Amino acid sequence: MEPHIQIEAAAIDPIELSVIVPSYNERNNVPVLMQRLDEVLKGIAWEAIVVDDDSPDGTAAVVKDLARSNPRVRCVRRVGRRGLSGACVEGILSSSAPVVAVMDADLQHDETILPKMLEEIHQGADLVVGSRYVAGGTAGDGLSSVRRWGSELATSLAKKLLKITFNDPMSGFFMIRREKVEAVAGKIAREGFKILLDIVSSSPPMKTVEVPFTFRERLAGESKLDSLVTAEYLGLLVSKFSGGLLPVRFLMFASVGVSGVAVHLATINVAMRLFDMSFEWGQFTAVMVAMSWNFLLNNQMTYRDRRLKGFAFLYGLVTFYIVCSVGTVASVGVGSWVYGHHPVAWIAALAGALLSAVFNYAASSVFTWRK
Ligand code: GDD
Ligand code: MN
Repeated sequence: MEPHIQIEAAAIDPIELSVIVPSYNERNNVPVLMQRLDEVLKGIAWEAIVVDDDSPDGTAAVVKDLARSNPRVRCVRRVGRRGLSGACVEGILSSSAPVVAVMDADLQHDETILPKMLEEIHQGADLVVGSRYVAGGTAGDGLSSVRRWGSELATSLAKKLLKITFNDPMSGFFMIRREKVEAVAGKIAREGFKILLDIVSSSPPMKTVEVPFTFRERLAGESKLDSLVTAEYLGLLVSKFSGGLLPVRFLMFASVGVSGVAVHLATINVAMRLFDMSFEWGQFTAVMVAMSWNFLLNNQMTYRDRRLKGFAFLYGLVTFYIVCSVGTVASVGVGSWVYGHHPVAWIAALAGALLSAVFNYAASSVFTWRK
């Protein structure tokens, strides 16, 4: 017999709008935001999903406390993971409402435009962007002048390279039909900050509307956007430009590899000139130094969301040495094979280097920085 499940007619209306709020160390800001949402979203069936990456300041506990008295509030506590984009995607995927909004927890985004944004969706928009760069919107005092300049540069690059048609693809404040994100969820990078740009460049054209707002100054807590975010952003641009062929992580791994070559050459120079080493010993030293350098840098940058510490660090280092050694042997093999067919040294060397980059990347993601 068919199991028959009947649920009492819902005590609350079906949720129409989920507001996804990524948070990291925002315990003083989230309660204020929830209260403001309560005021501004009167008459709308909404919920807030705060996605917290296990903030050390205990944001998740504060939110769960709120949720006990306000059924519109929910908290997703992610453990062992970090990343703004990933948090937003998980929040969106946990929603069953037809419309979702993404909004920062730190009160820099102007919640009073939410009803207008929802109205635009009702009028037929797929995506509504809270925009700092259309008439009426400004970046206010929320950004330092260096960051404003960087943000403008990044925006114009994205518009050119990725053919973005609206003004503020870097905004972290937007509303969208949930199905649009569900359709591309697998393609969105988990690392980094640029979730909107990522969604848009992974999707077929969407009917997009911009609503201006003023980016407020942050009053409590601090920004988590650092220079690595910029590196990741450039990676994202190249990655999307290549049609998703090259993942952001691989691009970072490969850049670290290129820096490792410089370290290798510097080390062998110092070893032979200053320490009078033979070429063999100099080369051996340089290989070890370059591999350690690559490991450290990848652990700091490429895999900072899975950073190895303590015993895992040592174990990771050893596996990385092994992976790289195998990669080197393979690259010599492939290089010679290419040279055999086509005796142009730089092409053969490049082929070998590319192969070892791809191999080292694939193998180290399985053995060294495994999930
Ligand atoms: N769950 C989670 N995990 N949340 C995070 C993480 C993380 O790793 N990093 C940051 N957040 C949360 C913060 O707590 C905040 O609510 C929001 O994401 C934005 O982080 P900020 O550190 O305040 O970023 P910002 O103000 O420098 O940058 C904002 O403006 C940029 C435009 O200039 C963001 O909205 C960016 O997305 C936007 O591009
Ligand atoms: Mn902020």
